[in-house]
Amino acid sequence: MELSSRVEKISESITLKLNAKATEMAAQGKKIYNLTAGQLPFRPMSEFVDLIRSESDFIKSFQYSPVAGFPELREKVIKNFEETRKINLETAVEGVQFDAVISNGGKHSLTNILGCLINHGDEVLLFAPYWVSYPEMVKFCGGTPVFVETSPFDVFVPSLEEVERKITDKTKIIIVNSPNNPTGTHYQDDWMADFAELMLKYPEIVIISDEIYYELFFYDPRPTYFYQHRPELLARTVIVDGISKTLASTGLRIGFTIGPKELTTVINKLQGQTTSGANSLVQRALAQFDFNQIPVYLEPIKRHLRDNAETLGEALSDHNLGHVFYQPTSAFYYLLDFSQTPVIERFRSRSKEDDYSVEICEELLEEYGLALVPGEAFGCPNTARMSLVLEKGPFKEALDVLMKFLLGD
Ligand SMILES: Cc1ncc(COP(=O)(O)O)c(C=O)c1O
Repeated sequence: MELSSRVEKISESITLKLNAKATEMAAQGKKIYNLTAGQLPFRPMSEFVDLIRSESDFIKSFQYSPVAGFPELREKVIKNFEETRKINLETAVEGVQFDAVISNGGKHSLTNILGCLINHGDEVLLFAPYWVSYPEMVKFCGGTPVFVETSPFDVFVPSLEEVERKITDKTKIIIVNSPNNPTGTHYQDDWMADFAELMLKYPEIVIISDEIYYELFFYDPRPTYFYQHRPELLARTVIVDGISKTLASTGLRIGFTIGPKELTTVINKLQGQTTSGANSLVQRALAQFDFNQIPVYLEPIKRHLRDNAETLGEALSDHNLGHVFYQPTSAFYYLLDFSQTPVIERFRSRSKEDDYSVEICEELLEEYGLALVPGEAFGCPNTARMSLVLEKGPFKEALDVLMKFLLGD
């Protein structure tokens, strides 16, 4: 069978491979600390679950939804966006109308957007470390990912000079992901203000703002965005959000796309011919759900993430590795930099490579029972993503194991 060249370009997920190994080792009775989680291991809000239950009494919950989603839910999504980001979409840009499309998760929103915007050879600027799926989605849509490198010494914040250096006449899209997976931080407001000014110089570029972790900040100030400084940029900005992270509902597959009607209309056309509307039952429950409850639900979860972040900082400083620590503030990840720890020397002495993150994570899993996601997956050599969601006790134990490894004991 001859496969399409588009699909041949997609890389296999290292995360899934390591996760499968971790699961297999756990099934064999080995003690495994799995810090690879990309989801919150908590039950969603009972108010939301009850609504799903009660909506399951209606036949409409089991039938096709309108392609773009139920109008009541789309309105609610727009209203919630306007309230939380302090934006009025009716007056934001003269002559531009906005709309929302409900899709089957944030991933689906992103592939819809990229599929509707990318022409063969278009370049899409990604800030490394980037979320694993961006480059693969871009390649599948016929685009070329172009990477802006960052440094752990700048807490992985891209320099705007470097961003500008990578812009060419082929640059079609820039993806901004704040709060960020895998760094667990959000860009500061002055960075967003400067980024807005930079974008004004390049009127052809579309900006995708992936805000799937928006409500999950556990240190103030809350995330802010470039378009809050320059609302006229909303005319070429598309926002991605959803319930996967903020309602701990990755399996329900609901994502939101908010953008200019010019784009949402074609996304609607694409969605209508590919997946149809998203899950009716969950949409109907969400249409009745009070979105103002989300921060209330997240409060104890954020406290937990803050505590684990603090424990991590303490563990590193207690082991003379305080220089590796930066303050995570949002989402639920931390990107650990091995290149500044003693263990890297052992790997360097074995072979000359630029990136040992996969070998390091393999050894960590096989010999120490600790599962992390290698930085290779995020375009960030000699790092690994650790999730901060584990319960306090096992998280501390996992850190003990990790410190031993980092110090080369
Ligand atoms: C940055 C980022 N964007 C989008 C998504 C996709 O979310 P969903 O599970 O709703 O498809 C994820 C999921 O991990 C993510 O981390």
